[in-house]
Amino acid sequence: MTHFLDIHKTDPAELRNIIDTAKSMKAARAGKLRGALDDDQPLKNHMVALIFEKPSTRTRVSFDVGVRQMGGQTMVLSGKEMQLGHGETIADTARVLSRYVDLIMIRTFEEQTLLELAEYADVPVINGLTDRTHPCQIMADIQTFEEHRGPIAGKKVVWSGDGNNVFASFAHAAGQFGFDLTFTGPAQLDPEQEFVDLARSKGSNVLIERDPVKAVQGADLVVTDTWVSMHDPQSARERRHNQLRPYQVNDDLMAHAKPDALFMHCLPAHRDEEATSAVMDGKHSVIFDEAENRLHAQKAVMRWCLGV
Ligand code: CP
Ligand code: NVA
Repeated sequence: MTHFLDIHKTDPAELRNIIDTAKSMKAARAGKLRGALDDDQPLKNHMVALIFEKPSTRTRVSFDVGVRQMGGQTMVLSGKEMQLGHGETIADTARVLSRYVDLIMIRTFEEQTLLELAEYADVPVINGLTDRTHPCQIMADIQTFEEHRGPIAGKKVVWSGDGNNVFASFAHAAGQFGFDLTFTGPAQLDPEQEFVDLARSKGSNVLIERDPVKAVQGADLVVTDTWVSMHDPQSARERRHNQLRPYQVNDDLMAHAKPDALFMHCLPAHRDEEATSAVMDGKHSVIFDEAENRLHAQKAVMRWCLGV
C-alpha cells in the first residue's frame, strides 16, 4: 500500500517526482476557474474520505477541491461525529472505510492513530497533520521555494520559534531534499532529538542556535509557525508567549537574512505574535503561494498514492 505518512518514509526520487507533478499540474491549470476540471481526470470514479479530528481551513478545502478537479468525489468527516469518537477502534474504522472509499486523508492528534489507520486500511492513507508532523505542508513549501528560487538542495532554511510538528516535517525534508536547517528557539521548545538526528544521518547540516540574529545570517528561507499549536494546552499559552517572544520574525530579524530570503508560515497565523504583519505582507513573504500550493502538491501526492 502506498501511504503518504511522512516525508522521510518516501524515497527522495519519488518525492522529486511528486513535486515535479505538482508543478506541471499547476501550470496546466493556468487561466482556469477554480471549479473547472483538470484536462486529465485521474481520480475519476474514486471516492476519498477526509477525516478531521482537529480544525482546518487549508487542508480541508485544498484536499476537497483537489479531488474534485481530478474528477473524484469526497466526503468530509468530523472525527467527533464518527463512531471513532465514541469508542470504535481505529483498526475497525480502517477496515470498514476501506470497503467504501479508495483513499483516506486524516488529521488527528496522536501519531499512533495515523499509523494504525495505515496498518489496517486496504487503501492508501495520507497524513493531514498529527501532533508530531505535517508532511503535506512541507511538500507545498518545497514547491513554493523552488518556484521562486530554484532547487532547494544546498540552501539554508532557518526555523525561528517552536520546535513543533511543522518543524519536524522540515527536518524530514532536509534529509530527503538535501538542504541545511537551523533551528532557533528557546531550549524548552527544542524539537525532538530524533528529527534532528535523522536529518543529520542523511547529510543535512542541522544546527541549533539560540541567538535568532546569528541563526538567520545567510538564510535563503526563514520560517515560523504559531506559538501555541492545536495540541498544546491553552494553560501553556502565556509561558510559551514569554519564551518565544525573542524569536518573533520581524523586519529587524529579516534584515540579517540574505537580501533575497523568502519568508514562509504555514498559516493560520497570529499576526504580530510569531511574525509581524510587516513581514507577512512584505517583500520576502510567499505565504499565500504556500497556501495555494497545498492544492497542487496534495493533488500530486494523491496521484502518487493511487498510482494514477
Ligand atoms: N496550514 C494548514 O494546515 O492549515 P489548516 O489548519 O487551515 O488546514
Ligand atoms: N503547528 C500548527 C500547525 C497548524 C497547521 C498546529 O499543529 O496547530
